[in-house]
Amino acid sequence: MLQIQQNISLKPYNTFGIDVKATFFAEVFTEEDLKTLFESEISKSNKLFIIGGGSNVLFTQDYDGLIVKMSIQGIESKSDGDTVKVTAGAGVIWDDLVNYCVAHHFAGVENLSLIPGTVGASPIQNIGAYGVELKDVFESCRAFEIKTGQIKTFTYSDCNFGYRESIFKGDLRGQFIITSVTFALKTAAEINTSYGAIETELHKRGILNPDIADVSAAVSHIRVSKLPDPSTIGNAGSFFKNPVIEKHEFADVVAKHPDVVHYPTADDKIKLAAGWLIEQCGWKGKIAGNTGTWKNQALVLVNHGGATGTEVFNFSEQIIDSVKSTFGVTLEREVNIL
Ligand code: FAD
Ligand code: EPU
Repeated sequence: MLQIQQNISLKPYNTFGIDVKATFFAEVFTEEDLKTLFESEISKSNKLFIIGGGSNVLFTQDYDGLIVKMSIQGIESKSDGDTVKVTAGAGVIWDDLVNYCVAHHFAGVENLSLIPGTVGASPIQNIGAYGVELKDVFESCRAFEIKTGQIKTFTYSDCNFGYRESIFKGDLRGQFIITSVTFALKTAAEINTSYGAIETELHKRGILNPDIADVSAAVSHIRVSKLPDPSTIGNAGSFFKNPVIEKHEFADVVAKHPDVVHYPTADDKIKLAAGWLIEQCGWKGKIAGNTGTWKNQALVLVNHGGATGTEVFNFSEQIIDSVKSTFGVTLEREVNIL
């Protein structure tokens, strides 16, 4: 039974652990719940924000509107030759889906192990890690159109996926609520260990012919060593995107900073490692009041306890200014600021 609650603390609903309140809060377990909710007067007369695991948001003030928490559950799979289609409800915890796929020998999402958050949010910023992006396994998603109350299906080509981008963050921002996602995975494992430290970690473990469970375990291990656990130190992962710049802009940067960490992109641009830029400016592991950057990964801003969203936001402004004046590069926030 759908309930709309009032004056709810959002502290348990965001991994930064910011203590703000929402005027209205509703948890949705079915597509029917969404229909009922959007027939209510409260939904019509308030601004609204959809939340999954709250692992990519920073609340800088109380939310004077309706927070809709997506909790639609369920995972189903259908095999067809060496392909398997797996469909999961928006509220399924992303890493539970990964574990389900690994346990069933469905290959494709193992490199995305241990990313916090929900399945429903995964297409929003096209989550990515260790050489794989959501788009590589995305088949389609169902989404509720707020204006009409209709369910629409989006296929891969509808979604305009890019690095930390999709149509849901772009042209259709705020218009659709994803209710389930279908993934196209492989039953015959295709392992991808080329990125970052995966090979080294597998080697250390003495694994010469890894399966997807080995890749998942290696990725999880690397992540734990670099990233703070939100259950003990509030954070939202990378606070900024890695900046993507034109080659001529890169020429200026590399002339002054020959060791700048960078990668070519598929569209002939250059991606810079924002963590490196921030570290070079002296911010790595810095503590500023209740906030700071993580000691093992300067791209992650943390809440050391009791930080306000404004404090974290203001700290991020200082980092942006500092990187701009040192490298001439503008960092863009990845985290959604509210
Ligand atoms: P939320 O933070 O709740 O929401 C994020 C955005 O999606 C908001 O705009 C929200 O309105 C929207 N949204 C959520 N659910 C829906 C829905 N059902 N329909 C429509 N809109 C919706 N991200 C990566 O890409 N790669 C990483 O490696 C990575 N590592 C991380 C590590 C840590 C420790 C943390 C804390 C975060 C990390 N992240 C990473 C960021 C985060 O995990 C992802 O962005 C994740 O997809 C957010 O999921 P969520 O359910 O918490 O979304
Ligand atoms: N680096 C530094 N100093 C730092 C951090 C990084 O010099 O403090 C250098 C590293 O040495 C390395 C390079 O930067 O050479 C890249 O670092 P890393 O492999 O840790 O990855 P990242 O580019 O910092 C991105 C994603 C992560 C994702 C990892 C792994 C973005 C914004 N971040 O981080 O995603 O897990 O790659 O694929 O693209 C997130 O989005 O929240 C997130 C954690």
